[in-house]
Amino acid sequence: MSSNKDMQIEEKVEALLSQMTLEEKIGQMSQIRHFEESADAHIKEKFIGSVIHTQGTLPGKTALDWQKRFIQLQKEALSTRLGIPLLFAVDAVHGQNTYEGATIFPHNIALGATQNENLVEEIAKITAIESQATGFNWVFSPCIAIPYNEKWGRVYEAFSESTEITEKLTRASVRGHQGDLSDSKTVMATAKHFVGDGATDFGVEGGNTSLSTYEIKERLLSPYKVAVKEKVGAVMASFNSISGISMHNHKALLTDTLKVGMNFDGILVSDWKAYSRFNGNDVINAGVDVVMAVDGDLEDFQDGLAKGIKDGSVNMSRIDDAVRRILRQKFRLGLFENPFPNEELIAKIGNSSHRKIAKQAVRESLVLLKNKDKLLPLSKEMKKIVVVGEHANSSGLQSGGWTIDWQGKDDNYKGATNILEGLKKQTKGEIVYDKNATGKHYDADVAIIVVGEKPYAEFFGDIGHESNDLELTLTKEHQNYIKAYKEKGIKTVVILISGRPLVVTDQIDQSDAFVAAWLMGSEGDGLAEVLFGDYNFSGKLPHSWPKSIEDYKQKYGPNFWDNSVKPLFEIGYGLKY
Ligand code: GLC
Repeated sequence: MSSNKDMQIEEKVEALLSQMTLEEKIGQMSQIRHFEESADAHIKEKFIGSVIHTQGTLPGKTALDWQKRFIQLQKEALSTRLGIPLLFAVDAVHGQNTYEGATIFPHNIALGATQNENLVEEIAKITAIESQATGFNWVFSPCIAIPYNEKWGRVYEAFSESTEITEKLTRASVRGHQGDLSDSKTVMATAKHFVGDGATDFGVEGGNTSLSTYEIKERLLSPYKVAVKEKVGAVMASFNSISGISMHNHKALLTDTLKVGMNFDGILVSDWKAYSRFNGNDVINAGVDVVMAVDGDLEDFQDGLAKGIKDGSVNMSRIDDAVRRILRQKFRLGLFENPFPNEELIAKIGNSSHRKIAKQAVRESLVLLKNKDKLLPLSKEMKKIVVVGEHANSSGLQSGGWTIDWQGKDDNYKGATNILEGLKKQTKGEIVYDKNATGKHYDADVAIIVVGEKPYAEFFGDIGHESNDLELTLTKEHQNYIKAYKEKGIKTVVILISGRPLVVTDQIDQSDAFVAAWLMGSEGDGLAEVLFGDYNFSGKLPHSWPKSIEDYKQKYGPNFWDNSVKPLFEIGYGLKY
């Protein structure tokens, strides 16, 4: 943005801020869910500044319904004394994944395997279009964590354990989402979660990060420097603590390092219900500007903050800094001139050109870990292929968490193509589906066995968390899928669907070919196009790959910066035809 356009915006911000009451300022700092029973009243009477959709009641059935619901809420905001427009935020982390029918891209770990910044920028542009088409102007993406331990349930939301790869793809992602922020096809992006989310001891979501200041600066903060340089509009504070201090109360990092040191002039948004979780006004004094005042937090937040101003424990200058940032982004987004979504974008949701890019991402993300006797590429003339595993016949299972539902789906969803459907398109021969490897198709030329993880999100994916029985290895059932055909001498191609590297050393030994396919999203036919040789493999591991469970006795898993634990495969490994 030209500096004089910036200057004009600053003047508008100051002029508007000077007219605002304390209640209107606190309202702008409040974010609520669109379906809270009093959402409409709160927007009018409590001057709410932003609305979030992530999980729960949908804004409607069709994209037009979604737009209409948000237009209704926007009109209520515009009817208030100062008529400050709303921001509408969504967790669109691999496409507009809350809307069934949207293009769903491979998760960031898969994009990390492509190392293709032009592709990542294109994907972010499409995500922005499909988010705007469903009524949103703010996405809580990209996650730019540096995962240290595969036990963490959110490894797949990040690009790589490599800071350098993360920096490159962060730049592309912010640029793609935001473009020229005032364009009705772009959205405000959010770099998250600041800072240390993926570097907690033993990979515990929201746990404690005990890295040195040096490591935090060199490995974790530098992707944020890149995001801020790209003018990212928002940064989200993280649930973890750093050496015992909750990030939501960490003024030194939130304000001194990010806002002042990096000259970040956008919105610092809290994570879910953080005001009541992390000592109330300490969250505001540390530097948070917008609070996800959800699940009953709104009154506590608004009354608590007003009380803080009254008793002097919170300075008005802190409130003004927060509101300045909120107004600044709303002006940069052009919301005062054009507060409503563009209905013409609806026709673009899930269109063939978007899905084509998603399929390219699937192809480029696949990492070939083994190809004994050049079994791959498969011949399209093969007489009989048996396809095994529930993950082969479910676009939900192939897509992972944050897909249609917060915790993902087990079954097929609208607009998607699953792996089995993709394979059937590729070959003239017979394809039989043997879901649980009990079909005894021992006359098959090859068995394509799809195994891996069920979808999960956040702490539900933490290995060792009480909510699940997840392991770093495959389930016994999936191990037996491979044995059932291997023991009969059938050539086996194993496809691993996972949100992270797993300990599959034995399964790699047992198979003839082995592919890491990550969480591929809606275009599962991209896999078949590579298996049958229409395209070559090009993916490279974005993480060091573990060889045994013993690799996880200490705080972190094998990684390229600490070779005390020898990985099975180094970061960057990947075979080609
Ligand atoms: C969640 C996640 C964050 C997400 C937010 C809104 O707790 O930590 O990534 O953007 O809440 O859903």
